[in-house]
Amino acid sequence: MDLNDMSLSKSEYDRSAYFYDEIMNSFKMDFSFYRDLTEILKPKSILEPGCGMGRLFPMFMPEAKAITGLDLSDSMLSQGRRYYAECHDEQVQIEFIHADMCAYEIDKKYDLIVFALSVLKHLDTGEKRLQALRNAKKHLHPDGFIVIDQAPFLYASVSTDWIDAENSLVADWVPDSDVLNGYQWKKTVQGDTDTLHWRYLDAGKTSFATQFTTYRYDVEALIKHLTQLDMRHEWLLTEWGVNGLRGHGKRFIGVASHPGQTRRLKQKVVEKVLQRNERLWSDHHLYLANKEASQSF
Ligand SMILES: C[S@@+](CC[C@H](N)C(=O)[O-])C[C@H]1O[C@@H](n2cnc3c(N)ncnc32)[C@H](O)[C@@H]1O
Repeated sequence: MDLNDMSLSKSEYDRSAYFYDEIMNSFKMDFSFYRDLTEILKPKSILEPGCGMGRLFPMFMPEAKAITGLDLSDSMLSQGRRYYAECHDEQVQIEFIHADMCAYEIDKKYDLIVFALSVLKHLDTGEKRLQALRNAKKHLHPDGFIVIDQAPFLYASVSTDWIDAENSLVADWVPDSDVLNGYQWKKTVQGDTDTLHWRYLDAGKTSFATQFTTYRYDVEALIKHLTQLDMRHEWLLTEWGVNGLRGHGKRFIGVASHPGQTRRLKQKVVEKVLQRNERLWSDHHLYLANKEASQSF
């Protein structure tokens, strides 16, 4: 099948590369987690399906010798290639591959495979999500780990009106919230379709608008898929930062591995999070039971 015809997600990201670069590439809430994990695991080879422009690659580079990013969107990949062509780090070999995360075939096994930012939510059926995980398992070194950050909904679990980005939870994800100036986002949740809209207002008029369509993927369904694939899993955090240590919530930030893997990571990750003692990221209400509570975005 021609990759160019196949996905709504591809056309949305192809159209939104400029916006992604300006806003989403400045999201840093998960950086410390990936830095910690990379320090603990010291993976030499890393694969990221749905890598976008390689936002997370700098977290991997201190340890990795080879990083493979795989994405459906040509615009996201071209921007990523431009960035890392300039980076001239001869210690690390970086490649971007145009492929569907459900259907690629690389003649190599990786130490670490990364599904960041709820990327599996871009797949519109359970069978495709299972296939993406199956494919990852196939490309995983026997001692390796697949790290998965998966929330069932993006930002909020209910539809919202337009919200000023700089006064919302997103402001917590960027070091300098001025970058959000003029931007607004809103959610539309209809059945299993979870759409995130963004727009830029210039003198009160919309001068740019985009959207990202994703599909609800519950943590229970993810764990069922891992079990079906005979994979072990370990839940590390539920949210970024120390507040994630309070207990299991509805977001899975953890690892999956082959059934023979005996190494456990949670204690090490928790120690690192506590040592850093940095500001808490994302202390927001992602899982709202009802609309009234949505005022707190
Ligand atoms: C939210 S972005 C995340 C990008 C990157 N992981 C990050 O953390 O910045 C989701 C990415 O997944 C890609 N994507 C969506 N469906 C895909 C698929 N079936 N195969 C490969 N990539 C896909 C999109 O093109 C987009 O670049």
